[in-house]
Amino acid sequence: MRTVYWDNGVVKLIDQRVLPHELVLLGFDDYRAVAQAIADMVVRGAPAIGATAAYGLALAARQSAATDRAGLLCDLDAAAATLLAARPTAVNLRWALERLQAVAADERLDDPDDLRAALLAAAERLADEDVAVNRRMGAYGAELIGDGMTVLHHCNTGALATVDYGTALGVIRTAHEQGKRFTVLVDETRPRLQGARLTAWELQQLGVDFYLIADNAAGHFLRRGGVGLVLVGADRIAANGDVANKIGTYKLAVVARENGVPVYSVAPTSTVDLRLAHGDDIPIEERDAREVTEIGGVPIAPAGTRVKNPAFDVTPQRYVTGIITECGIVYPPFEVNLRRIISEGVSG
Ligand code: MRU
Repeated sequence: MRTVYWDNGVVKLIDQRVLPHELVLLGFDDYRAVAQAIADMVVRGAPAIGATAAYGLALAARQSAATDRAGLLCDLDAAAATLLAARPTAVNLRWALERLQAVAADERLDDPDDLRAALLAAAERLADEDVAVNRRMGAYGAELIGDGMTVLHHCNTGALATVDYGTALGVIRTAHEQGKRFTVLVDETRPRLQGARLTAWELQQLGVDFYLIADNAAGHFLRRGGVGLVLVGADRIAANGDVANKIGTYKLAVVARENGVPVYSVAPTSTVDLRLAHGDDIPIEERDAREVTEIGGVPIAPAGTRVKNPAFDVTPQRYVTGIITECGIVYPPFEVNLRRIISEGVSG
């Protein structure tokens, strides 16, 4: 089952807020509700929210009562702005919307119904490509996983974070499908526990050997030896290779470097934002305080506690060993090689 798909005029999403205890599918027939679902993290993970936004824009075209091209384009602009505002850090959201808007810009699509059909076809294509791209990253990355290795993983980067298959977890999945025997240490990933709730659930279903660890235990395992590889995803990668990813990635990468453990970020080229020279300009989402003061709706801090809750951090490129993309593994100098794979489709 895909994390996000189109079903006869309805955008369907697996509700990731209730996993692993319940597997619930929600349907949306209003693009504003799709934007709210992205903001509320019904769907999350950079590639998954990109595909959801694409379907959301196709839905907006269907909802629009416009009878001419100009009117429809005007409604689409408003819808794209609403969808774009849902979450700020993952650039895949903007990338997906811009890709559909480029389709809409084709003046030959004069009939609004042709334009609606073209947008839906573009969203379906984008979703299909996401799965294919993940499989390619899986094939490149699996080379790095050796028999007997222990791999440390942060957040959730699996089928749930994408349309299907996964990025960093897709690498783990490919290595497992190749018959390699290895163990994964799964960071629980406070505050929203994507590791404990989602990654553990996915790995269990795949039959991959894993242990769930508290985020604070990662340094212990990295220092003690035995961890061969740290694999993470990315929400936005700047032109110089700085990686914005789930909060805690930076700390993990620094400790990994201190202990000589390589750190790879696994991300499609749609996650690379060449418009930003470095990671300091990546917007970092600040989320609700209750994500920190409560666990599962149960308060754990004194009432009135003030909270800072950045959902992402930026790992400077010097801590990143390589970036696994669908075009190959990119190594430093990232400022040269990322630009090259994006323009040529080959790694440096
Ligand atoms: O806040 P989330 O759950 O959307 O954050 C997701 C992550 O940080 C993932 O690691 C990243 O999007 C890569 S997922 C393929």
